[in-house]
This record gives sequence, structure tokens and C-alpha cells, in this order.
Amino acid sequence: MGQHQGKTIFITGASTGIGRATALRLATEGASLFLTDIAKDELEKTREKCQSLGSETISLECDVSNEKQISEAISSMAKRFDEINAVINIAGIQLWSHSHEHSLADFEKTLSVNLTGTFLVCREAIPHLLKTSGSIVNVSSTTALAGIPYSVAYAASKAGVLALTKSLAVEYGGKGLQVNCINPGGIKTEMTKMPEIEDPNLKLLLRQSPLNKYSEPESVAGLISYLITEEAQHVNGESIRIDGGALA
Ligand SMILES: NC(=O)c1ccc[n+]([C@@H]2O[C@H](COP(=O)([O-])OP(=O)(O)OC[C@H]3O[C@@H](n4cnc5c(N)ncnc54)[C@H](O)[C@@H]3O)[C@@H](O)[C@H]2O)c1
Repeated sequence: MGQHQGKTIFITGASTGIGRATALRLATEGASLFLTDIAKDELEKTREKCQSLGSETISLECDVSNEKQISEAISSMAKRFDEINAVINIAGIQLWSHSHEHSLADFEKTLSVNLTGTFLVCREAIPHLLKTSGSIVNVSSTTALAGIPYSVAYAASKAGVLALTKSLAVEYGGKGLQVNCINPGGIKTEMTKMPEIEDPNLKLLLRQSPLNKYSEPESVAGLISYLITEEAQHVNGESIRIDGGALA
């Protein structure tokens, strides 16, 4: 029997990369899943794979920055599965540009997906999670902890996710809700392809990955899986780097 047998888990950003790896990992560990993303075709592929691993898996096309869609998605999951045991906020975007050329529209879009989206999902899910003494894992980034060039909005949004996580952990910890975030760095996904900007100083970017190698999204999935186990219940309000020691 898998360690998450009987649990129901809501995941955003489940179409690709870390989100897909996490969904597959939790499916093999027995969880029932409610998967969301805006990339519909890839989302369906993730759902099919999870289902083939024996997990009862529902998927819903859903934009995390859309308040109505998030509210409906969480209600729909609660109706379908009766309860929600864990929520994992993985959806995110990173737009590259020199900071002095970063448009307001791109800055606001990045914050609305990465930070407001995480807030909306947490807000809607918390009443359900309080009934199950459940848990939340938010995906922040090493960019919340150390500067990154050409990604000022992204870094600010991920620092916001870190602060939001700690505040929720303090506010709801006594009521049995556990909230943590992780800070990945250098994971091989679509997001970590080289930025398309003019004249980047690559040395500034390499500062982020001194190990000179990427890790696979499955390594992040393993950490997320641990954080929602009973064994990890005393880990609360924590941010855990998974970056190969880049910021050690
Ligand atoms: N890859 C890394 O090294 C790294 C490092 C630090 C943090 N992260 C974070 O990990 C998370 C997953 O990223 P990834 O590396 O797997 O990249 P990815 O691009 O493969 O995954 C991002 C997912 O978010 C989805 N998404 C984008 N906008 C959305 C929206 N408005 N609503 C719902 N879904 C949306 C995308 O469709 C995609 O499936 C992101 O939050 C990212 O910031 C990744």
C-alpha cells in the first residue's frame, strides 16, 4: 500500500515539469488527484498516466490567476472527493528581460500567476484543509533567497510565496494545518531553457548553478511527497532548498 493511499491531493501546474513529476510520484504512492493547469493537452497526458498507475485522477483546465476558476476548481474537488488532504502549488511562469526594460504588464502577469495564484488556491482550500488537518506545499525558488539577473518580477513573486507560506504556517499551525515551501534551483524543465534576451551576461546566470549540472524534476517530486506525509508533520513554516547546494 502506497504512503499516500486514501489521500486526495490538489495540484496546480500539473501539465509539465515538476508538476507532472509530482503527480506521477503521488499517483504511484496511492493518492487520488485533482490536477489543474492551463496547458490542456499536456494536462490530459498527465491525467492518463496517473490513471494508468492506478490513481483516481481528475483534471481541470484552470488558470491560477483567475479567482472564479480557482474557487470553482476547489469546490468541484471537494464535491468529487468529499475532502481535501493536501494542496501543492506548482504553477508558475518566468519572463526574462533586462530589469530596466521589464514591462509593467509582464511584471504584473508574473505576480498574478506566481504569487496571487498561490494565494487564491490557499485561500479557497484552507477551509477544507482545516477539516482534515491537511497540508500545503508551495513552490518558491532559490531566487527568493539570492538575486537572479533578468528575472526581477519572478524573483519578487517567489519571495512573496516564501513570506506567504510562513504567514499561513504561523496563522493556522495551531489548528492542524501544515504549510511549507520549497526552493528549487537548476531543475531541468521547459522553464530553465536559456532566456531569450539580448546580450545576457552569462556569468551572472551561472552564479546560480555552481555545480554545473541540472537535476531532474523527479527529485523535487520526492521532496514534496515527503512534506505531505504524517512523518513530516512537525515540519511547518519551513522553506527547503533543493538546488544541489548552489546557495550553500
Ligand atoms: N525548473 C527549475 O529549476 C525551477 C526552479 C525554481 C522554481 N521552479 C518553480 O517550479 C514550478 C514548476 O516549474 P517547472 O520548472 O516545472 O516549469 P514548467 O514550465 O514545466 O511548469 C510550469 C507549469 O505551470 C503551468 N502554468 C503556467 N501559467 C499557469 C497559469 N496561469 N495557471 C495554471 N497553470 C499555469 C504551465 O502550463 C506549466 O505546466 C514553477 O512555479 C517554477 O517557478 C522551477
